[in-house]
Amino acid sequence: MTAFAQRVFSGVQPTGNLHLGNYLGAIQRFVELQSRYDCMYCVVDLHAITVWQDPVDLKNNIREVTAAFLAAGIDAGRHIVFNQSRVPEHAELAWVFNCVARMGWLNRMTQFKEKAGKDRENASVGLFAYPALMAADILVYRGTHVPVGDDQKQHLELSRDIAQKFNNDFAASITANGHADGFFPLPEPLITGPATRVMSLRDGSRKMSKSDASDLSRINLSDDADQIATKIRKARTDPEPLPGEVKGLEGRREAENLVGIYAALAAVSAQQVLDEYGGGQFSTFKTALADLCIDKLAPITGEMRRLQADPSHIDKVLASGGERAGVLARETMNAVKDIVGFIR
Ligand code: AMP
Ligand code: TRP
Repeated sequence: MTAFAQRVFSGVQPTGNLHLGNYLGAIQRFVELQSRYDCMYCVVDLHAITVWQDPVDLKNNIREVTAAFLAAGIDAGRHIVFNQSRVPEHAELAWVFNCVARMGWLNRMTQFKEKAGKDRENASVGLFAYPALMAADILVYRGTHVPVGDDQKQHLELSRDIAQKFNNDFAASITANGHADGFFPLPEPLITGPATRVMSLRDGSRKMSKSDASDLSRINLSDDADQIATKIRKARTDPEPLPGEVKGLEGRREAENLVGIYAALAAVSAQQVLDEYGGGQFSTFKTALADLCIDKLAPITGEMRRLQADPSHIDKVLASGGERAGVLARETMNAVKDIVGFIR
């Protein structure tokens, strides 16, 4: 196996209602990785249209996710920030991967089952094929490390399976075309920290989600201080006081979720949170959590609003990122064409 240059790739869908789960599970970690890796952060608009998007909202949502990246501290000069549809090689490689991936693999994807629900016949073909596009996103840059929330783990495993099968199916052609064995790396998921799965504030058994009908279920990155305070005050809890030890959170999903959010925002462990608040009432803890949340999010949401007021600046960032990404993507796609046997 070749030693691949290390490269981080991740994506966020521009489907509106960017929330605290996106921030803690993904964006905050994107920021941390910048000092150690070359990073590419993509606003995945091709993924978004696997379910219907209003065209006017879609444009705004692409700019909103870009603003969140920048406001959170992603350096679009040193790293690459762009929207997926600008680089046609994503869709091109996805087609090749549609022909590598097996129906049986995609049939097992739980996200498709959840999103398609009971009416599978009416789901778009794109929603079904989505994980092959995700594999293409990463592998068109030969990405090696992929920071995501826990819900994307299965998709990452599928990306590895696709990379492996491509490497096997075309092994002879890969070497005949002068590439080292294992043309594609097997990308590694980076799913770490106390907030890889932030749960709904209304129901500790469901993840915090952009599409939850109840706005009280999530903290949006567009919420102001009053909204954040209200949502945390109304967050569901149980009647027991907070435990003193982490194992006391077992079976208490809502409590565990709020402690996890606090830990992630304060960059401390869940045990450290309980050392401070264990034995106390939820109301005291909730007040502290609301203050912390407002304190951490206000600079980011404020900066997002400022950036969103100037869409032309955001569009320039995306154009520059798209150009730089395109150079890398074309290189891989040309090699793939040679390997597969296309004439170019
Ligand atoms: P999406 O909104 O589906 O495009 O997700 C963008 C990123 O946020 C992905 O890495 C997800 O895994 C992550 N993410 C989404 N929801 C949550 C959540 N409730 N908790 C933690 N991470 C999340
Ligand atoms: N599927 C991811 C999500 O819904 C978004 C995504 C698309 C992604 N392509 C990616 C994440 C590539 C990591 C790498 O959250």
